[in-house]
Amino acid sequence: IAESDMTFIRMHEYMTGLYHQLLVNTNEGEKALQYLLDRGFPMELIRSEQIGYAPDMPKFATNALLEQGYNEETAYQAGLVSRNEENFSYYDRFVGRIMIPIKNHQGHLVGYTARSIDGSEPKYLNTPETETFKKRELFFNLHDARKHVRKLDNIILMEGHLDVLKVKTTKVKHIVATMGTELSQENVSLLERLSSNVTIMFDGDSAGRNATLKVGDTLLKRGLNVYVQKIPDKMDPDEYIETFGAEKFEQFIADEQQHYLHFKAEVLRHEAKENDMKLTQHLNTLAGDLQFVRDHLTAERLIVTISSIFGVDKQALSGIIPEPVRQEP
Ligand code: CTP
Ligand code: MN
Ligand code: MN
Ligand code: MN
Ligand code: MN
Repeated sequence: IAESDMTFIRMHEYMTGLYHQLLVNTNEGEKALQYLLDRGFPMELIRSEQIGYAPDMPKFATNALLEQGYNEETAYQAGLVSRNEENFSYYDRFVGRIMIPIKNHQGHLVGYTARSIDGSEPKYLNTPETETFKKRELFFNLHDARKHVRKLDNIILMEGHLDVLKVKTTKVKHIVATMGTELSQENVSLLERLSSNVTIMFDGDSAGRNATLKVGDTLLKRGLNVYVQKIPDKMDPDEYIETFGAEKFEQFIADEQQHYLHFKAEVLRHEAKENDMKLTQHLNTLAGDLQFVRDHLTAERLIVTISSIFGVDKQALSGIIPEPVRQEP
């Protein structure tokens, strides 16, 4: 690791410790701590994840880092403080927010996602791009999830950081979140190396569904086995666990995992209503998608499922699948 990277990491380690102490041991942090406990994040998790609180002070981090002997310019480069471009003064980037530390894949602290608790926008403020915090390359929680991913040959992708943290209180450990809704090319390449199966578990709203279709198509076309863990309407994984409990969630993960094309077929069938033109277009789209399903038995089962969802003959559907999948190895 480069010396400058080590400096950024040490600064984050120091600030993470301070923010955590503020959250768990001071009056300033009391409201934020109560917020987390009310939302069902246990003390044990708050400790192990070193969740913290950035106080409502303009220069808390700026001064704390100066006292440690770091200059303001370095703190700015590390993404911990902001700079006023008119008079070049420095002030805290994170103010009055819950601080969720983000580790890189080697387990070093390199950034934060910070949630407001008073309704102020944005809801989440992240560390900006820095030398050590490159969103395109990162998955939140991958350092901890890695060995479980390897063992299960499956990785669950979630939308929210708090979803991942809540799920960590259950027995389900092969979970990560992207840093934003977009999946970068770097993210996709890394997924390919990590696991042959990817399970998308985004929020059960229209934003989550649209993101599922986008990410699902991308991963399918890269030859991965893509599944969807379909969250009930208007819930996210955190809310699922709060509503139904950890055991029910674990059971849900064990029992219900739809192939991505099964999910997509249901969405498209629903969207087409009774429009014959759309029904035909969607069936052609799905036939095109089926060529990317490499496993022969999976492809066979999907043909049965999809033709039944659309009410067509299975032979008719398999007849229009483009060549690749139909060739025997
Ligand atoms: N997000 C963001 N900025 C926002 C809203 C969302 O960066 N204003 C990102 C965050 O990474 C967030 C994810 O998108 O974790 C999912 O958004 P959302 O479902 O709205 O948030 P939750 O994770 O459910 O957060 P909470 O439960 O605290 O509302
Ligand atoms: Mn969402
Ligand atoms: Mn959500
Ligand atoms: Mn949520
Ligand atoms: Mn079904």
